[in-house]
Amino acid sequence: VKTPVPPVRALRWEGEAPGGRLVLLDQTRLPEAEVELRLDTVAELVAAIRRLVVRGAPALGCTGAYGVVLAGQAALAADDWLARVETGATALAAARPTAVNLALGIRRVLAVARRQAAAAEPEACCRDLLAAARAFHAEDEALCAAIGRHGAALLPRQATVLTHCNTGCLATGGLGTALAVIYTAHAGGGIREVLADETRPLLQGARLTAWELRRAGIPVRVLCDGAAAGLLRGGRVDAVLVGADRVAANGDVANKVGTYPLALAARAAGVPFYVAAPTTTVDLACPDGAAIPIEERDPEEVLGALGRRWTPAGVGACNPAFDVTPGELVSALVSERGVLEHPDRATLAALLGAGGGAGGQADTAASSSG
Ligand code: MRU
Repeated sequence: VKTPVPPVRALRWEGEAPGGRLVLLDQTRLPEAEVELRLDTVAELVAAIRRLVVRGAPALGCTGAYGVVLAGQAALAADDWLARVETGATALAAARPTAVNLALGIRRVLAVARRQAAAAEPEACCRDLLAAARAFHAEDEALCAAIGRHGAALLPRQATVLTHCNTGCLATGGLGTALAVIYTAHAGGGIREVLADETRPLLQGARLTAWELRRAGIPVRVLCDGAAAGLLRGGRVDAVLVGADRVAANGDVANKVGTYPLALAARAAGVPFYVAAPTTTVDLACPDGAAIPIEERDPEEVLGALGRRWTPAGVGACNPAFDVTPGELVSALVSERGVLEHPDRATLAALLGAGGGAGGQADTAASSSG
């Protein structure tokens, strides 16, 4: 099956460098409005990342890569160009802690800044930074396509697939991770329906997955997160497919909160639970799930939604943005390198080889564990 072209793009660089800017499709406005934001500074970009204007681990990686270009452009007139680029990179990496791809994208481009700063003028360095960011983005698009091809082969024909959060074009530099599998399988005639968890509290499933699949003409229905276990037990789902924000060395998977209960329910019902993620999301420097930093977000996100606050005044909320699914609940990890059944420490190390994955890149800089 031919890999479909991504129907929408979460981000792009406009112009050259220096003088260009990062353009983000504002995901906080979807599905009501398609609004692009043009960002010129690291401070604007950090705020946009925190607000989830752009989100999803691989898309954050590409965003971080372009963010270093913004830092380089802003420092053109400074004597301490490299020091300022490093400061910008540190601020970007701290914007969200769980998705390891953010740190990786930043590290890739920062490594070029460090290499070139002694040899070239800042203006020429900015051109090199942009070339590195574009290469990282193109690489991510290719990883998505390969994940789609490998994963589509796992699904039965006319499959009903249940997914969580948003793992598509809006979450990556290309077609997606779990949704790349769905796009590719659909192109081969293999999808009956996608059941999309609404994904409380910020409704990435109800707003974003439903929007992008409908736009692509793929049958999709939204369900309350709490409905998934019953549907799985009732035999209504052929496979669960989710993405990942970070995969630890032992196969534990951090992903959007609500993924772990889905994995438990899938196991209890005997339904395969697949995690689709590029090897850039695997962090061998993180020994297990307990070492993955889990972002805690504003309680207000839980206390109300859609402009209405339904919780009595004085009641607080607990709002972890991610949870960790133990590796033993994962039927297979679908990466660009193929399908790894029952991922664990030994099989993941073999998949990545020495120095592979997000945590083991040669271009080391800021810690990848937040
Ligand atoms: O908080 P978000 O929307 O950034 O969370 C995104 C997810 O949890 C995705 O499932 C994950 O990043 C994989 S995306 C291809």
